[in-house]
Amino acid sequence: TIASGTKDFLTIGEWSATEIFDVLEKATVLKNQQKSGTQHKELEGKILGMIFEKSSTRTRVSFEAGMIQLGGNAIHLKSDDLQLGRGESVEDTAMVLSQYVDALMIRTFGHDIIQRFADAATVPVINGLTDMHHPTQVMADLLTIKEVKGGLQDVKVAYIGDGNNMAHSFIEGAAKTGLHLSIAAPVGYEPDKKIVAAGEQEAALTGGSVSITADPKEAVEHADVIVTDVWASMGQEEEQAARMGAFQGFQVNEDLCSYAKQDYTFMHCLPAHRGEEVTSQIIDGSHSVVFEEAQNRLHVQKAIMHYLLSGK
Ligand code: CP
Ligand code: NVA
Repeated sequence: TIASGTKDFLTIGEWSATEIFDVLEKATVLKNQQKSGTQHKELEGKILGMIFEKSSTRTRVSFEAGMIQLGGNAIHLKSDDLQLGRGESVEDTAMVLSQYVDALMIRTFGHDIIQRFADAATVPVINGLTDMHHPTQVMADLLTIKEVKGGLQDVKVAYIGDGNNMAHSFIEGAAKTGLHLSIAAPVGYEPDKKIVAAGEQEAALTGGSVSITADPKEAVEHADVIVTDVWASMGQEEEQAARMGAFQGFQVNEDLCSYAKQDYTFMHCLPAHRGEEVTSQIIDGSHSVVFEEAQNRLHVQKAIMHYLLSGK
């Protein structure tokens, strides 16, 4: 936040590569500690407030469980239960809640809302998903790729589908870490041009790359990792029918995956629509790591909170 001088996590792009790699490393340490039953109450007494303007299974439970494992507490707030749902301003809400808790997470619609929220808040703000970005998910995805492929540099990731929040955070994540990202999106559903341009520029410095095509096979060619996401995101329910038409040919299925490397890995942030963006055969098949990926939300978010609240 500019006004308060606190550090936030609204996008992957705003963090340095060092910060990203440090947090990924910390996530691995915390993961091992949790697996071995070693106490790691490094945020004893800290409180996270979480505001949800959209539904959530993973984000809500992994943040809450993570904070409890770190010795702190989390408060789950649905925007309809807050005065925010009756028109109290985003700024007043952020100012008030900052007096009660040590960090805030918010899942909302427009990215401008979280920006305003973070500018007004005097505690660190974490983006739990906006229409434009889903940074905590892509941090978990980077951790997953690192684990499965042994690193991030020179790994080829094919993202198939909507140029949405997941695509945008993937572009920024690839640009920071040296991944080669190839996005295949239908015409009219490409990712934001500014995010693509910034990603291309930064990737040139890290040894990574970002490319956009309308041909899923071209994107998947020799890919190490195949990622997809729903065709209609939360808030786009009325576009569902039109999108179903536009995304024909962008389903991740056996035929498409045959263009990837033999040992390709399939990822999906979940929730998934089997039979739409991905077949059951693929998401429930031997290449899929979707549940490890979901698990990594917990570990990476604990590391993010630890960094924002302890500076380490
Ligand atoms: N992937 C993800 O963010 O899931 P939820 O919507 O369940 O939080
Ligand atoms: N793109 C999806 C991701 C859900 C976790 C959405 O915004 O609904």
